[in-house]
Amino acid sequence: MLVALLAAFLVARLVAWLIGLALKELRHPLRGVVPCVSRFPLVGCAWQMRSFQPDSKLWFQFFKTPNSFQLSPDLHEKFAEYVRRFGSSFMGFVLGHVIVVTAEPRHVDALLHSQQQLRKGTMYLALRGWLGNGLLLSRGEEWHTMRKIITPAFHFSILEQFIEVFDRQSSRLVDRLEPLSHGSSAVNIYPYVGLAALDIITETAMGVSVGAQGDVDSEVVHAVKDLTNVLATRFMRPHLLFPQLFRLCWPSGFRKQQAGVNCLHQFTNGIIEQRRLLLARQAHQVEPEKRHALLDTLLRATVDGQTLTDKQIRDEVNTFIFEGHDTTTSAVSFCLYLLSRHEAVQKRLFEELNEHYGQNLSRGVVYLDFAELPYLNCVVKESLRLYPPIPAVARCLEKDLAVDGGYVPAGTNVVVLLWQLLRDETLFANPLLFHPERHLGAEASRLGPYSYIPFSAGPRNCIGQKFALLEMKTMVIKMVRHYQLLPMGVDAQPSIKIVLRSKTGVNFGLRPRSY
Ligand code: HEM
Ligand SMILES: *[C@@H]1O[C@H](CO)[C@@H](O)[C@H](O)[C@H]1NC(C)=O
Repeated sequence: MLVALLAAFLVARLVAWLIGLALKELRHPLRGVVPCVSRFPLVGCAWQMRSFQPDSKLWFQFFKTPNSFQLSPDLHEKFAEYVRRFGSSFMGFVLGHVIVVTAEPRHVDALLHSQQQLRKGTMYLALRGWLGNGLLLSRGEEWHTMRKIITPAFHFSILEQFIEVFDRQSSRLVDRLEPLSHGSSAVNIYPYVGLAALDIITETAMGVSVGAQGDVDSEVVHAVKDLTNVLATRFMRPHLLFPQLFRLCWPSGFRKQQAGVNCLHQFTNGIIEQRRLLLARQAHQVEPEKRHALLDTLLRATVDGQTLTDKQIRDEVNTFIFEGHDTTTSAVSFCLYLLSRHEAVQKRLFEELNEHYGQNLSRGVVYLDFAELPYLNCVVKESLRLYPPIPAVARCLEKDLAVDGGYVPAGTNVVVLLWQLLRDETLFANPLLFHPERHLGAEASRLGPYSYIPFSAGPRNCIGQKFALLEMKTMVIKMVRHYQLLPMGVDAQPSIKIVLRSKTGVNFGLRPRSY
């Protein structure tokens, strides 16, 4: 009897809660102002979201869909469809909370350039366990202080020293691909570029490379891979953002995340410790150190006379590793892919490189080269436009945001569709065309100043932008000087897993250049 009563009470509470949420959705101030993707409260958006298909299988799926990628459109296709149906801004509800999605240049501009809207979207919570309070996730005074400390770590005098690392690791990449460069079958380049990028970011951020290209089975490499996969799934399943529900609904994912985070935290802790000792020793010597790692800036920094704690440093270093390796892997892979599919562009780029470097393949890349390679610059920019490694960013509004006479209330999550913006035909003529020349001379000056934003914009834009461009360029130079990239293999099927990846791999053929 008592049990039945208790059960009835709990059910009544649940129903009351759900009705409350439904009413909240129906009476939301944005109703009727911003088009909504679903008319049904509570279940409407969950129904839409079931087609946001992450690749991993969940033990218990709230939103089940067939696991075939031909059937389920990816997130960016879904968003493209919404933009066609509802216009450049629309919204949806998840359990009483509204999410506004926008690809409207004026609104994006106002949001990203505001000094008041610096807080990241709620979905970024999934990254907390790994990145803690690093620069990507932190907010308020804490973010402000760290951004000021870290900015000089990306000064060109430091980036200049990194070119040697980019160059050496790219040569390694070229060597690893040599056995596959017979020109008769396609290679999925993504994992190869991925390991090179991991070596580059660990060596430049911490001063110690993980040697991923030499040890594919390394624990750290696996941990990074597992973690990114789990996190990508959590990003697209709102219930998995809550740690308790995550643990309950997807225990194997939870365990994988724990193991990955532990492994990487141990790894970074070890390196921070080593580096601290090294710096202490160097302080007593006259000879200057070899190369400045990003970590050194953090170890030397002080706030009100206090050095940073180990946890603060670790969070920042992990943020560099996460932000700095998956993104550039995606960027370089898609750039090479586009070159393989556009013979004329590849030819023009090769000619530029050949003119600058001549035939000596042992000649390394140096900082001064980049100023003399304008077409390379256009190619890299144009590939970031068509395949932005971070296709969307999100903010949780700290203050009401004024839009067209109305406002979006504080506390609302707003998603900005960089992918759509970068393919907006009002901003870019023939937006689907891979046309590097649009970033050159007179054509470039017709592009508005805020339309090209693959690194986001405003106070929370990418702090690693210059680093990323230099790394990309070095890898592309090396690859194109050594290999002809052939249009072979299955076409890419872009898919958003936090960063842009491809469900079918990023494939093309390789043939050694004959000089
Ligand atoms: C092609 C490569 C890259 C792209 C497209 C890219 C893009 C972005 C974007 C769009 C954001 C804003 C994220 C948001 O608003 O949520 C961002 C932030 C950030 N990026 Fe990158 N990124 C790249 C490479 C890098 C690299 C190599 C590093 C570090 C070495 C890096 C470090 C960061 C950090 C620390 C932030 C957070 C900045 C802050 O909130 O103050 N990124 N990046
Ligand atoms: C090729 O370049 C390397 C490195 O700059 C140099 O040591 C070597 O002498 C050059 N070889 C020729 C044949 O010019």
